[in-house]
Amino acid sequence: MSYKMILVDSTEPVGLITLNRPEALNALNGELMNEMTQALRGFEADENIRAVVITGSPKAFAAGADIKEMQDMNYVEAYMKDFITANWEEATRCRKPIIAAVAGYALGGGCELAMMCDFIIAADTAKFGQPEIKLGVIPGAGGTQRLTRFVGKSKAMEMVLTGRMMDAEEAERSGLVSRVVPADDLVDEALKTARKIADLSLPSVMIAKESVNKAYETTLQEGVMFERRVFHSLFATEDQKEGMAAFAEKRTAKFKHK
Ligand code: HXC
Repeated sequence: MSYKMILVDSTEPVGLITLNRPEALNALNGELMNEMTQALRGFEADENIRAVVITGSPKAFAAGADIKEMQDMNYVEAYMKDFITANWEEATRCRKPIIAAVAGYALGGGCELAMMCDFIIAADTAKFGQPEIKLGVIPGAGGTQRLTRFVGKSKAMEMVLTGRMMDAEEAERSGLVSRVVPADDLVDEALKTARKIADLSLPSVMIAKESVNKAYETTLQEGVMFERRVFHSLFATEDQKEGMAAFAEKRTAKFKHK
């Protein structure tokens, strides 16, 4: 498969997607999102890939949905083509872990895409924002919901109502990103982290991801019950036997991902 707007590298066990539309600061148009959907589906289906990294350029992870593509759209068109559900939400459907590696602008749909990933590692140059209000609209890819869950109501409300950007330091302090690294090290750090995850038991990793995500979807009691059930289920894996035997024998575990 050849792509025009993204670069795809699948040096196993990590799949890397680099948004590559520099002339528009990686503005997310339909074609780019279709390509990303394809690439993510490919990684999901490829049994040699056990973790994914999505990144952009040093200047922009993505400066938002493509404003020029949206400007003439009317309500009926938006509704009939189910803008943006059709090709924006693949990252939320993937069962393998996805890390967003963000440098520069992550605005509007760019910030929303990063938040759809499992966690965000930010360069010290990163700037996050939901500036849609300045365009006469609001976030439409989950921003009002996910940002509020990440940083709390007061900060999310201020950002959504004013369009103010948050720098990397504030984003880390507020819980939006897991950590901040020097810009030059961003992609290496994200790949290193992805490889670390890829070395672990894939069933455990996927179930851990599913379980943490439950915290956003359900009550505490139901979430804990879900966790208990899937925790029990992991004792059916070969990797649990290997992981615990390796600890007892003071050696490194060799997971079979089974
Ligand atoms: C289309 C965009 C774009 C965007 C930048 N460009 N952002 N094109 N859609 N979201 C284009 C510019 O038009 C310009 O093209 C080129 O990229 C470089 O941008 P500049 O503005 O010249 O760069 P700079 O002065 O460095 O300013 C950077 C910036 C600014 C602050 C990030 O570009 C900006 O404010 N962009 C828009 C951010 C935004 O509002 N995002 C939210 C979009 S709405 P030319 O051809 O002139 O060189 C959204 C809704 C999501 O995301 C809802 C779900 C889909």
